[in-house]
Amino acid sequence: MARIAEDGSVPAPWNTFVEGDNLDVLPTLAAGSVDLIYVDPPYNTGNDFAYHDDFRGGRGSGAVGRHGAWTAMMRPRLDEARRVLAPGGAIFVSIDDHEVAYLRLLMDEVFGEANLLGQIVVNLNPKGRQLGRGFATSHEYLLAYARDLPRCVLDASSPTGVMESDFPLLTDDGRRYRRLPLRNTNKKFNPATAPTLHFPLWGDPTTGRVAAAPFTGATRVEPVFGDGRPAVWRWSVPRIEERADDLECRVVRGARGERVDVFQRDWLQPADGASRRKKLRTIWLAEEVGSTDTAVAELKALVGHVFESPKPTGLVRRILETMPADARVLDFFAGSGTTGHAVALANTADGGTRTCLSVNSAEPTRPGSNAARAGYPTVAAITRARLRAVAERHGGGYVERTADVPVG
Ligand SMILES: C[S@@+](CC[C@H](N)C(=O)[O-])C[C@H]1O[C@@H](n2cnc3c(N)ncnc32)[C@H](O)[C@@H]1O
Repeated sequence: MARIAEDGSVPAPWNTFVEGDNLDVLPTLAAGSVDLIYVDPPYNTGNDFAYHDDFRGGRGSGAVGRHGAWTAMMRPRLDEARRVLAPGGAIFVSIDDHEVAYLRLLMDEVFGEANLLGQIVVNLNPKGRQLGRGFATSHEYLLAYARDLPRCVLDASSPTGVMESDFPLLTDDGRRYRRLPLRNTNKKFNPATAPTLHFPLWGDPTTGRVAAAPFTGATRVEPVFGDGRPAVWRWSVPRIEERADDLECRVVRGARGERVDVFQRDWLQPADGASRRKKLRTIWLAEEVGSTDTAVAELKALVGHVFESPKPTGLVRRILETMPADARVLDFFAGSGTTGHAVALANTADGGTRTCLSVNSAEPTRPGSNAARAGYPTVAAITRARLRAVAERHGGGYVERTADVPVG
């Protein structure tokens, strides 16, 4: 049944699926119609790469031919991905050691080196791969690029990593905070490079009061590095005057004895009610985003163990957290439909209105595989089954389109 919004309109379904070769489907999408792309292309491990495109100049024997064929397959798809991305959009591509070096260069070419947001290590196999002579590989990569970095709306932080224990101090009225030096601790910033931020402050360590001008009982406080050399503050005079209540004057004991310094009270719950976010690092652990094992369990709970290496929804949810809650998401190597599942989970959790377009070809499942035995003749049949099951369980709706109808 269609959902009705408060204003009586029928919102777009959370999940849409198109069966087809993505190179046929992508050109039917309007330019700039997508905010976020996540894809997990075939990894070219030597046994999962069966493409019938015309790889001009890419075919050949040996490693060069193999990598060339893979990049020749990816290039026109990434060109299309760039075309359909909105100016503020971003793309994330999962990849493992086999093609990461080639993909990085290809994406630098297609999206521009300057638009790299990060090369993230994702610890999807915490036990490590025990086969082979080398080290036990326990990670893959995510390459993230902005369509246009200055205009990109991605916020490389997450509300989930914020730990209450990082804010150990309590005010009398129970607000949690931590103290951060108001002094800029980065040596690049000093009176020569940032002269307007080098000025004295006035503080009383007994009451904690800080001001930009002298007051009775105040001590003059200059910004200095630990070794006594002159430093600069992080806040300007107007900001200090406006937020004096968020500052604290204290006596500190350093290598050079006692001195008076000024600290910012950094609140767990900022006064403007915005949720606190933490900058995401470039290593994402399985305990944070899930693993291949947890991904298999998630899939099993919905449609059975019918796909070999799905991604965990936690990985895609973390990516979703970096973009607005109404993002239009696209996954054109959808596989078992993890991205669509993650979009429904994210909308359910935060009331968002994200939509997801999933595309997968009618690649036949292997005879004798779990999928074939469970009655799924193609991967597209698996994508479809999972996205339908997601809509039944979480709502949000599900529709299918055909490749020849322009969408977006
Ligand atoms: C590594 S899997 C994606 C797995 C997915 N992230 C998940 O969690 O289930 C890659 C998928 O791309 C699909 N695929 C490969 N070539 C394609 C193409 N040219 N067009 C559309 N789908 C394609 C394959 O059928 C496979 O399901």
